[in-house]
Amino acid sequence: MHDLVFRNVLLMDGLGSDPVEGTLAVDGGRIGAISHGGSVGPAHEEIDGKGAVLAPGFIDTHAHDDAAFFRHPGMEFKLSQGVTTVVSGNCGFSAIPADPELDSVAASGGILAGLEGGFTDLQGYFDAVLERRPAINNIMLVGHNTVRYLVMEDARRAPTDSELAAMQAHVARALEQGACGFSSGLIYRPGRYSDTEEIIELAKLAAPYDALYTTHMRNEADALLEAVDESLRIGAEAGVHLHISHHKAAGKANWGKVTESLARVDAALNAGQRVSLDVYPYTAGSGRMIEYFNLDRPSRDLAEVIRIASCPAFREYEGRMLKDIAAERGISLEDAVRHVLTAPKGDRTICIHFIIDEADVETNLAHKDMMVGSDGIPDLRGRPHPRLFGTFPRVLGRYVREKGVLDLPEAVRRMTSLSARTFGLQERGVLEVGYWADLVLFEPDEVIDTATYDEPQQEADGIRAVVVNGKMAYLAGIHLGVGSGQMLRYNDKPYRTMQ
Ligand code: CU
Ligand code: ZN
Repeated sequence: MHDLVFRNVLLMDGLGSDPVEGTLAVDGGRIGAISHGGSVGPAHEEIDGKGAVLAPGFIDTHAHDDAAFFRHPGMEFKLSQGVTTVVSGNCGFSAIPADPELDSVAASGGILAGLEGGFTDLQGYFDAVLERRPAINNIMLVGHNTVRYLVMEDARRAPTDSELAAMQAHVARALEQGACGFSSGLIYRPGRYSDTEEIIELAKLAAPYDALYTTHMRNEADALLEAVDESLRIGAEAGVHLHISHHKAAGKANWGKVTESLARVDAALNAGQRVSLDVYPYTAGSGRMIEYFNLDRPSRDLAEVIRIASCPAFREYEGRMLKDIAAERGISLEDAVRHVLTAPKGDRTICIHFIIDEADVETNLAHKDMMVGSDGIPDLRGRPHPRLFGTFPRVLGRYVREKGVLDLPEAVRRMTSLSARTFGLQERGVLEVGYWADLVLFEPDEVIDTATYDEPQQEADGIRAVVVNGKMAYLAGIHLGVGSGQMLRYNDKPYRTMQ
C-alpha cells in the first residue's frame, strides 16, 4: 500500500522533456514509483489528476522569507503557488548570523522584521524554525549586509584586518553549517560602503564548498553594465558560481540594456565561467523606500512611479501612488518623499516602483539560464507587491500560455531541476524514484496569478495540489497545515532529518 498516488496525470519530469501520461506513487516522503501506463498498486490517498500536469515542486530562488518562517509558518503565499522550497537570505540580508543582544536585523529595515528565538547561527535558526513546523523547505544564504552590520555597523570605510577576519569567520561558519552561499546587496547600506576586494575576500569562502555568490548588484540602472562586470570579476576571482539576482534594467533611460547585460553573461559562460540569473515576472520592483532616495535631492522620475506598499507611519497611504498623496496634500513630489520618509518609522516604508520595461521581462525569461525568483517581501500588514503571491503561476499563465515566451517543459525546468542543481538541493527538482516527493499538480490551461497591485494577497488559480516531503500540504485551495517542510543544507542531507 502506497502512502499517496496520483493517477491520470501528465508527468513533467523537470528536466525539460515533454510530458508523459502516467501514475506516480509516494512512499515515506519520497517518490516511490513512476509508471507510464503500467499499473501502480493502491494507496491510502488516491488523487485523480484528470489530465493535469504533475511536476516537481517549484523552487523560489530569490526569497526574503527568513522571518516569514516565524510569522507565517504556513507560508500560504508560497505554497499556494506550488512553491515547495525557497532560497532565503538574499540581497545581503539574512537572519544569520545574529547577536540576540543587538538588533542585528536593523540593517534590513523591515525586510527581516519579526524574527524570533535567541539563535546566533544557522543551526540555531534551523532549530527555531523547525519548532514552528514550517509548511515548505528553506535553504539559506549568508548575507553580507547582515555580517557587515554585525561587525562594523554602519561604518563607511573598508574593514580593518581584524574586522575582515571577523566577517570571514561568520561567513565560514554559516557555510560549514549548510548555507548554500554568500549573498550581497551592494545597492543597500552597509553593503554599498564596501569595495570589490572586500566582497571577493568573503565570497572566496564559498569556493571550498563549491557554493554560490549571489548578488543584488551595486547598480541596476545607469551603471548596470559596470555592475555586471564587477559581479563577473568577483565570481571569477573568488572562484565561485555567480548568480545575479532579479536581473533588470531600471529606469526608462536604461530599458533594453538587459540585452547587452545578458550578452556579457553569455560571453562569460562561453569562456567557461559559471553564471546564472533569476527574474521576477513584473514591471515593478519593491524594497525599502529610503534606500532609493537622497533626501536632499529626491529623484522626481522615481517619485513619479512610487506606490506605497507598507508604511507603519501612515497606514492610510498603503496601496496609493505617491503622486496622488502629494496632490491631495498640495505639496511637491519631492516634499512627499520627505514627508513619508522622515516621519517616525518612516524609514521602514516599503515601496513598489514601476521602473521595468515589459519587453525586458520577456528578454530575461527567454534566456536559458534564467531561473524564477519572486523577491517577495512577506509583510502582510500592508499591500505587498503581488509577486509575493503570484510569481510562479504568472510565468506559467502569462508568459508561457498567453505570450509563448518560453514553452511549458522549459519553464518548469527553470523552476525545478535547474534551480535545485544550482542551489545544491539534493534529491529534489526532478521526478525520479528515490527523490524527495515535493510535487505540484496544476492545470496548464488555467494556471494564472490573481494577485494585483490593488488586491495583492490573493492565491493563484489552477494550482490543484502541492505535496511537501511526501505530505499533501495544499489541496483544492485548502491549506492542510501539515508542516512537513525541512531545513536544507547545501549538497547535503536536510538538517535533523533521518529519512
Ligand atoms: Cu531581494
Ligand atoms: Zn534585491
